[in-house]
Order: sequence, then structure tokens, then C-alpha cells
Amino acid sequence: MQNYRRLFESWELKNFTIRSRICVPPLVIYNWGNGTGRVSEKSLKHYEALTRGGAGLVIQEATSVCPEGRLTKTMLGIWEDGQIEGLKRLAEVFHKADMPAILQLSHAGILADGRENQVAPSEYRCFGNGEERVARELTEEELRVLEQRFIDGAERAYKAGYDGIELHASHGYLLSELLNSRLNQRADAYNAKDRLFFKNIMRGIRAATSQKFIIGARLGAFEPGIEEGIEIARWFEQEGADFIDSFIGCDWEMDMIKPEGYPFHASIYGAKRVKESVSLPVFAVYGISSGEQAEAILEDTNVDMAVIGRGSLVNYNWGNDVKAGRNPGKCRNCALCMWKVDSEKCPGHLELERNRK
Ligand SMILES: Cc1cc2nc3c(=O)[nH]c(=O)nc-3n(C[C@H](O)[C@H](O)[C@H](O)COP(=O)(O)O)c2cc1C
Repeated sequence: MQNYRRLFESWELKNFTIRSRICVPPLVIYNWGNGTGRVSEKSLKHYEALTRGGAGLVIQEATSVCPEGRLTKTMLGIWEDGQIEGLKRLAEVFHKADMPAILQLSHAGILADGRENQVAPSEYRCFGNGEERVARELTEEELRVLEQRFIDGAERAYKAGYDGIELHASHGYLLSELLNSRLNQRADAYNAKDRLFFKNIMRGIRAATSQKFIIGARLGAFEPGIEEGIEIARWFEQEGADFIDSFIGCDWEMDMIKPEGYPFHASIYGAKRVKESVSLPVFAVYGISSGEQAEAILEDTNVDMAVIGRGSLVNYNWGNDVKAGRNPGKCRNCALCMWKVDSEKCPGHLELERNRK
């Protein structure tokens, strides 16, 4: 059996002991919700299984701060007090598994469902999630309202018993668009350098919650290039962030490059560079499909968490299986889960079940 030096060691994230270096990232599950954004029994069961699968941390899927900012109408929401009751039950699921409850706060920006909802810091056109999108420029007043939506969302999470939030600020969502100097062409303080939006939400969230509340961010290491990504990560650290879940930048405006011959995905290289530049915990993601690979990435990059996305949908028990020396299964890259088809039809998962019979 493989001898893992780092993958199953525990570590400290703020006031919490995290029992392994395996993280399940936010993964929106399409088609489960009924449009109210409220937590369903299916979601509770899903997280019960994921939180018992051997990961040290499971970050709850993108949870929308307002109905207009939804990626899909069926996703979870945190825009009204009526949603708190279900979220309380979900936070308990994390706590019963002895891990902090952290949810991802999101606004999909130009990727929002419905043409009239597609917005960005500056007028913008792109092709995203299978269709042409045309974003209208947000006014200053609208940005102020959205800041409050993020702060209110974090406050609701706090009231529901969550220990922290992750800001969804990567791969082309609104917060990523705000950070990207190619896309964000604004002349006011909401521009990509002054980052007024982030200053206000970081301070607002801290004031509405507590010093112990974890504030992390999913940030693009290429926003638009690696040097800017690193500068943004350093700035977040100064603003009081507690961890950086490093991923790619705004899909249509980034130079995602890695040195020739680097053995892992550019997103992993980006996380490595971010980790070298900050003293915060940093997580690395993309395409990790075995325990050996996760361990090699932890060794190579010195990051704090190896993040297993699609692998965790193939096999909710990924971490336990790897620890026990069992084959954890493999994502077949069919992208069904990305295209709003129920994840229960995942071919990688069905294959794993067949092989185990
Ligand atoms: C079905 C699905 C849903 C996703 N939902 C989110 C999300 O809610 N928030 C987010 O930041 N990333 C989301 N992602 C991206 C994943 O968190 C992860 O970064 C990506 O799949 C790459 O990791 P992997 O190669 O281990 O799958 C999603 C990916 C998939 C496949």
C-alpha cells in the first residue's frame, strides 16, 4: 500500500483541526432544487455522504446571494431569511462529521441564468456555458446593493451556524470579473486595482460575523496573468482572508500558462506560485485522480489541500478508499455533471459500482 506522508496528516485552519489534506470543492448539483433555493432532503443526504468520505474539508456548493445571480434556477440560495432553517440543518451535517461548515457565496455575473440577469463590471460579450452572452454594465448603485447581498448572505450563514464562507471569485463569475483588469474597464473605485467591492464586503462580513468566522476566497491564479493573480492573492491576505482556494481566472480573459514539462495542470502550477507568495493556507485543484497524484502535488507545491472535484462525484468515499488502498474510480470526462444532468447518471460512478460487484 502507498505510504502517504502528507495526504492524511491533520492541520489547523483558524480554530479548526482539519483531519486530512483532501478537500471536496464547491460542486453545484444541477436539477435537485425546486427554484426556492432551499435545502432539500436530497442535498442533506448528499453532504452526509460527502462529509464522511475521508475529506478533511467539504466546501458547500455555490450558494447564490440573490435570485438574479443564479447560475441555474435550481441552485441553493441564501438571499432571504426563510432559507436559514434548511441551512441550519445542513450546517449540522458538517458538524456531525466533525468538520467546519463553510459555504461558497456566489453571483454568476455574465453566467447568470436569463439574458436580463447577465451583468458585469463593464459591458462584455462572450460565449459561456454553451451560449452567447451579453452582459450589461452594472451601475455604482447596483454594485453597492450587491455588496450588501454578499454581506447579508454571510450573515445568514453565520446565523445558520456556519463557521465560514468562501467567496466565489474565479472562473468568470461576478467577483472574478471585478478582479480582472481586462474585463473590468471601470474608471470608478470599483475598478480592478482599487477593488472597492472586495474592501467593502471583507469588512462588512467581518463586522456582521465574528473574528473567528473563516473568510476564504476561490481566486484565479491567472487573473489575467500569474503575476496579477499573485498580487491579488497577496492583497486578499492583507485584507484579512483566512485561506485561498486557488483555481483559474476569468475564462475568457486569462493567460493560463505553465513551464514546459510541468507534470500537472496549469491550475496546480498557479496554486504553487500563489503558495510561494503568501503565508495563508492555499488549496490546489484540477484533474487529481489518484492518491499518489494528490500526494505528489502536495510535495511539489507545498499547498495545504489537494482538491478533488469530479473525483468526489464519481466516488463520495474517495478519501477513505484511497487511504484503504482501494481504487477510488475515475472521472470519464463526459461532462454530464457540468451540463445539468443529474449526477446519479455519472458513468465513472456506474463503472466503479460495476467493478465492485
Ligand atoms: C458539476 C460541477 C459543479 C461545479 N460547481 C462549482 C461551484 O459551485 N463552485 C466553484 O467554484 N466551482 C465549481 N466547479 C468546479 C470544481 O469545484 C473544480 O474546481 C473543477 O471541477 C476542477 O476540479 P476537478 O478536476 O478535480 O474536477 C464545478 C465543477 C463541476 C464538475
